[in-house]
Amino acid sequence: MKEKIQEVENILCKYGQEHLLRYFKELLDEEKENLLDQILSIDFDLIASLYKKAINHEMNENQQDLQPLKADEWDAIANQEKEQLYDIGIKKIKDGKTAVILLAGGQGTRLGYSGPKGTFDIYLPSHKSLFQLQCERLINISRKCGTYINWYIMTSHVNHDETVQFFDDNNYFNYPKENITFFKQGMLPAIDSNGKIFLQERGKVSMSPNGNGGCFLALKDKGILTEMKKRGIEWIFINGIDNALVRVADPYFLGFAVKTGLPSASKVVPKKSPDEKAGILCYRNGRPAIVEYSELPVKLAQKSDGDGNLIYDNANIINHLLKLEVIEEFFNYEVPFHVAHKKIPYLDINGNIEYPKEPNGYKFESFIFDIFSYVFDMAVLKVRREEEFAPVKNKDGEDSPFTAKNLVLDLQKNWLINSGINSKLLHGKTVEISPLSSYNGENIDKELIRDKLLRADTILI
Ligand code: UTP
Repeated sequence: MKEKIQEVENILCKYGQEHLLRYFKELLDEEKENLLDQILSIDFDLIASLYKKAINHEMNENQQDLQPLKADEWDAIANQEKEQLYDIGIKKIKDGKTAVILLAGGQGTRLGYSGPKGTFDIYLPSHKSLFQLQCERLINISRKCGTYINWYIMTSHVNHDETVQFFDDNNYFNYPKENITFFKQGMLPAIDSNGKIFLQERGKVSMSPNGNGGCFLALKDKGILTEMKKRGIEWIFINGIDNALVRVADPYFLGFAVKTGLPSASKVVPKKSPDEKAGILCYRNGRPAIVEYSELPVKLAQKSDGDGNLIYDNANIINHLLKLEVIEEFFNYEVPFHVAHKKIPYLDINGNIEYPKEPNGYKFESFIFDIFSYVFDMAVLKVRREEEFAPVKNKDGEDSPFTAKNLVLDLQKNWLINSGINSKLLHGKTVEISPLSSYNGENIDKELIRDKLLRADTILI
């Protein structure tokens, strides 16, 4: 350990971060080892340069020449064309040319739940977790294609073990274990306004996941990109964990992307209102970009056309498709980081944990959508909000598990009515349809459901 200590001391001295070893002598041997390893995992050059940019206000200040981007409307596509898109998508999946990445490394702070967000039960009658809902949609599509899609689940240091354990405890929701790969994204330390890295405990640096854009670096570092290439993967679906209605590996979307000939695509939904806190897909300086709600000038957010439709209306739902080559190309550029000025709990000079009332430091994150600015153009499909977006962000109120549950059940009620079940029969009843039976409203067994409706108030299909 002596040599390791020396190595760490040299690094800390070089970057003016010696305080990280302030309590070293008080630690048990195992804690010492962990702290040294944690420090050795930090890219101090990166932190120094991010700090410099943060204090010089060089981040989150993208030059703002914004222009609207016209999305293709799902509702405007003729049924016959939709079927064509479906066939194209199904074929790509069948041929083993696609993979799915689930971004599940976030901390879910707003949800106020200590476990991984994917393990959260949104109070559906079945009590299925967000992970299970996504997994069952993948099983549905995999069955249609006769092959299991490779599913890459990004976790982070804060939730990796619990995530893997959850899948193991639930027998991987009957997805073949060999088709699931868990991989951890990187972490970055939080720093104070003088650029000093915070200690979270005596033997622990304050680190948090490096943002969902950390996905690309992790894919490269863990050799997953190379593996995907060897497997002949062309297209990668990427989606977040916190949408209870996400259509994972949607063949229609894939067919749509393939048909446009563009190397990337994104699904969006119409904004709920001009001031909805959603990122907007548009052009920035001539390139596709997702502009955060805080960066979109109010005037543009409210701007509408002659018919009263918002012009900047493409709300991001973290449902993207990227060609593998786009990700490879991205490594030729410097990965952009965003800075957040935050209240960061820290260990003070007396060894007590302080919970600041005002922002006291910086955290850095990269965003998955920053990759869009490196492609010349991209395809955008605007889908129906009520069919594909049930966000689970907050503990209660808007975009909470409760609103998401209602959105799932309301949509499924519409499927039943559209399949010919009389809405009167559904009055006062709750019907939950498993994604294993129906992916987007197909395959509804009317007779079976009618029969069950006569006998029970809550029905699981
Ligand atoms: P959010 O930006 O909503 O962050 O993530 P979050 O961590 O889930 O929630 P809050 O902000 O702390 O309340 C959007 C998606 O990106 C993933 C999340 O898991 C979610 O699917 N994500 C976010 C990561 O995978 N890694 C990160 O570092 C951050």
